[in-house]
Amino acid sequence: MTGSSKDHWSADKYNNAASFVPQLTSTVLSYLDVQPQDRVLDIGCGDGQLSTKIAKAASAGQLLGLDASQSFIATAKAEYTASNCNFKLQDCTRLAECPDAVNASWDKVFSNAALHWILRNPKTRGDVFRNAYDALKPGGKLVFEMGGKGNVAEIHTGFTAALVHAGLTIDEARAASPWFFPSAEWMSQTLSEVGFKVEKCEMEYRPTALNPDTADQSGGLTGWLRLMGAQFLEAVPEGKREDVLREVCDVLETVITREEDGSQWIGYVRLRAVARK
Ligand SMILES: C[S@@+](CC[C@H](N)C(=O)[O-])C[C@H]1O[C@@H](n2cnc3c(N)ncnc32)[C@H](O)[C@@H]1O
Repeated sequence: MTGSSKDHWSADKYNNAASFVPQLTSTVLSYLDVQPQDRVLDIGCGDGQLSTKIAKAASAGQLLGLDASQSFIATAKAEYTASNCNFKLQDCTRLAECPDAVNASWDKVFSNAALHWILRNPKTRGDVFRNAYDALKPGGKLVFEMGGKGNVAEIHTGFTAALVHAGLTIDEARAASPWFFPSAEWMSQTLSEVGFKVEKCEMEYRPTALNPDTADQSGGLTGWLRLMGAQFLEAVPEGKREDVLREVCDVLETVITREEDGSQWIGYVRLRAVARK
């Protein structure tokens, strides 16, 4: 990652643990409604899979994908070389430092499954939306999907409790969470305060099947927890991390496993919004 935080992401780990994230996007893409001439700014673009799909639809336009993971940006640059598609390493909590982005030249600002990380710090939360507003042309649209209130609640709770059992105070365990999952009401009000006209702001409870496990445990529940929950695990000394992971897996086992086929499902809650400048 940029700054001092560690880069937990890699395209291989992401494909094994969470390949469904860039795939379960038909609703948010229908809201984005990409037109051939569109200039689209993709915030938290990851490894570029989804960005490239958007760039193909914006065939006479432009896409700029920004992400704070060096590994993801390196993959995106290596794999996706269409001339209308560019990727840049950028911490999107500090978007104002990227003049290519914040210049009122974009028809659409897009984000999938990234804003709950980017909005984690309350001090920079407002800036993210103000910068997205400044990035858009007058009349341009901000379209995004992210985790909403209650997203992966069983995992959030399991990690918090396991960290307390490992010796953290409840406040320390809460502070280890890398996510901010707001309600639709909070989001709608925040977007309006920045000056957006909110056209849609909705929540969907969308239970999601985890990928099957792999021999190296980079898929399934363990792979998901290691990748998405890396910051929870790093809140305890290295020697305790496997115990925390095992506790979360044990607690969740019967909660998320379906009796009919043994598949494991977690409670994704999606918050989607469309807001116009
Ligand atoms: C679950 S991935 C989603 C990636 C992609 N949008 C997709 O749909 O596949 C979350 C992304 O948010 C990015 N991210 C987290 N914090 C960020 C920050 N402060 N600035 C930019 N990107 C950030 C991560 O690096 C990661 O690529």
